[in-house]
Order: sequence, then C-alpha cells, then structure tokens
Amino acid sequence: MKIVAIYGSSRKNGNGAALVERAINNFADKNPEVNRYYLSEIDIKSCMGCFACRKKEMCVRKDDMSNLLQDIIESDFVIFSSPVYMYDATGSFRLMINRMYPMLGGEPGKYTKRYTHKKCMIIMTQGAPTIMFRGAGRIIKRIIKSFGFDVFGLVRMGFANERGAVEKNERVLRKIDNVCSKVIKKL
Ligand SMILES: Cc1cc2nc3c(=O)[nH]c(=O)nc-3n(C[C@H](O)[C@H](O)[C@H](O)COP(=O)(O)O)c2cc1C
Repeated sequence: MKIVAIYGSSRKNGNGAALVERAINNFADKNPEVNRYYLSEIDIKSCMGCFACRKKEMCVRKDDMSNLLQDIIESDFVIFSSPVYMYDATGSFRLMINRMYPMLGGEPGKYTKRYTHKKCMIIMTQGAPTIMFRGAGRIIKRIIKSFGFDVFGLVRMGFANERGAVEKNERVLRKIDNVCSKVIKKL
C-alpha cells in the first residue's frame, strides 16, 4: 500500500511528527511504501487563482507540489498533520491545501469532486487544551472532505508545546491506533 505522510510542523522531532510515525507503524504488516513530505523544507508556492486546473487537471505552477499531489492521488492513505498556529493550521499547510485545488473540477463556484472515498486521517497539535481552538481542526476537516476524502479520524493533542510531551499522552496514542485500525479494516 502507499502512504503519504504530510508534516505541517517545522519541528521534525515534535509531537505531531511523533504521532504521524505512530500512525505509520500501525501499517507495518502491510509493507507500506511511505512518502514523507516536510512542508517547511519543500517548495510550495502560492496558488495563483487562475482556475486552469478546473478545465484540465493540472497546475500551471511547477514546484514540489506536483509530486506531492501526484502521490496524494495515487495513495491508499494520507496522514495530514499540522500544529495550530494562530487559530489555524500552519501557513505552509494552508499553502498546500490551496494547491490541492486540482482535485476539484467544474465551473468556478460549482465544483465537482474528481476523486471520492480517498482515505485519510488528520492530526492536529496545539499548545492549549483540546477544548480550545476546535475551529481549526473543524475547518481543515471540512476542506479535506470537500476534496473527496473520507476522514477516518481527526486526532487532536493539547499541551503540545514541549517536545516529547506525546510520550506521556497514552490517550492520544490510543486514539491514533484506533483510527488506524478502522482504516486497516477498509483496505
Ligand atoms: C507562531 C505560533 C502560533 C501558535 N498559535 C497557537 C494557537 O493559536 N493555539 C494553540 O493552542 N497553540 C498555538 N501555538 C502552539 C503550537 O500549536 C504548539 O507548540 C504545537 O502544536 C506543537 O506541536 P509540534 O510539536 O507538532 O510542533 C502556536 C505556536 C507558534 C510557534
């Protein structure tokens, strides 16, 4: 199977990254091909708003998003992860989301999905407790669903400022495993 892992945090040893690795480990038996994308290290330019992708499924901008989008399209499972920065996902994560627009077709304003039932999960970390900033995850989930994904779980982790905090958070680790077992049943 093909897994795409997307890291929206610059902290490669941060909590979100650890949760992505935990999720990937759940698929060890499936001998997965894993393509990892660290968004802060790759070149994803802004969407130009030209709507060329509505007529033909391609983006006029040539940068690292071409490979990332192709991998997403060919994937069996995508793990999206981002910290909450200023009530939202990180800027690099939002740039990527905008550049996923070629997953939609149709006239501007009346979009159609080019893909359906793609499998994914979303992981969001934040400094505050998880009762706060829930809107960030909600909007990211809604956008990702609009691209034709079935979101198997949105896992939030609070109190995530300290690196390594994840190791003491049994509840969030269990949640990751539960979401992955739901995905495995549908493979
Ligand atoms: C620029 C910036 C903005 C942030 N904004 C928020 C925020 O709005 N709400 C929140 O709970 N935490 C906020 N945080 C804390 C991060 O969400 C937290 O450090 C991050 O989730 C840690 O995850 P990581 O270990 O995966 O990088 C912010 C941190 C930074 C650096």
